[in-house]
Amino acid sequence: MAQAEQYQDLLAKIDSSKMPAHIAIIMDGNGRWASARNLPRTAGHKAGAEALRRTVEICREIELPVLSVYAFSTENWLRPMEEVRFLMRLFIEYLHNEVALMNRQNIRLGFLGDRTGLPDPVRKALAEAQAATAANDKMLLNIAVNYGGRDELVRAIRKISSMIDKDKLSSTDIDEQLVADCLDTSGKPDPDLIIRPSGESRISNFLLWQSAYAELYFTKTLWPDFTKRDLLTALLDYQGRKRRFGKTQEQIAKD
Ligand code: FPP
Repeated sequence: MAQAEQYQDLLAKIDSSKMPAHIAIIMDGNGRWASARNLPRTAGHKAGAEALRRTVEICREIELPVLSVYAFSTENWLRPMEEVRFLMRLFIEYLHNEVALMNRQNIRLGFLGDRTGLPDPVRKALAEAQAATAANDKMLLNIAVNYGGRDELVRAIRKISSMIDKDKLSSTDIDEQLVADCLDTSGKPDPDLIIRPSGESRISNFLLWQSAYAELYFTKTLWPDFTKRDLLTALLDYQGRKRRFGKTQEQIAKD
């Protein structure tokens, strides 16, 4: 049996008064992980699902309220059809397999993205997993599938325009709160920390509106290699940052 990963030393360093409300992760590097082992890309995605399982476990352990993971973007449909099919099957399998564990760990499943563009079996698996975990209240795990930050904003603008068309709203009523309420993350805190593994330093259309004041953390580790220690290392780095939200350091010190 593989030796259990040790991370108690890092856990002990966490400052419970500086916990983020929401961590978001761009799960990247599955393909490179597989190529480095002469394996098909699909093997990288499978290993990525294991990394997600570990990450959910550690996030629950540190009592993180919201974790969002980017699993499939609106642009990922351009990948080879076989890979897209594999990923859709993997999502369904993950949702079926994880529900029991989510219920044991009191985790609720959420979804970010445009459901209408998803194949029926994926929609069904998402709806079933959401219904089966709806009463859980210790952590929300948002899975972003067919998600794009720009697409989300377009859908929000359409919702607002439709309210105006129906005379339920005037354009002068539009404010930041209304826009936020029309996003997939409505009612949820903005991400405090966005983690991107794999050495790429970009946001790639993830949570564009919500990331306005997020702290960004980039690591070269490929997603399938991402461990509980990596998550805790990112969290400790975040806890060392000075967040000012546009104010001066002096103002922050007085708050
Ligand atoms: C990006 O890495 C990853 C994806 C497009 C798929 C993400 C899917 C998983 C992590 C599987 C587990 C998820 C769920 C919800 C079960 P890439 O393949 O583009 O890597 P590369 O840049 O190295 O090619």
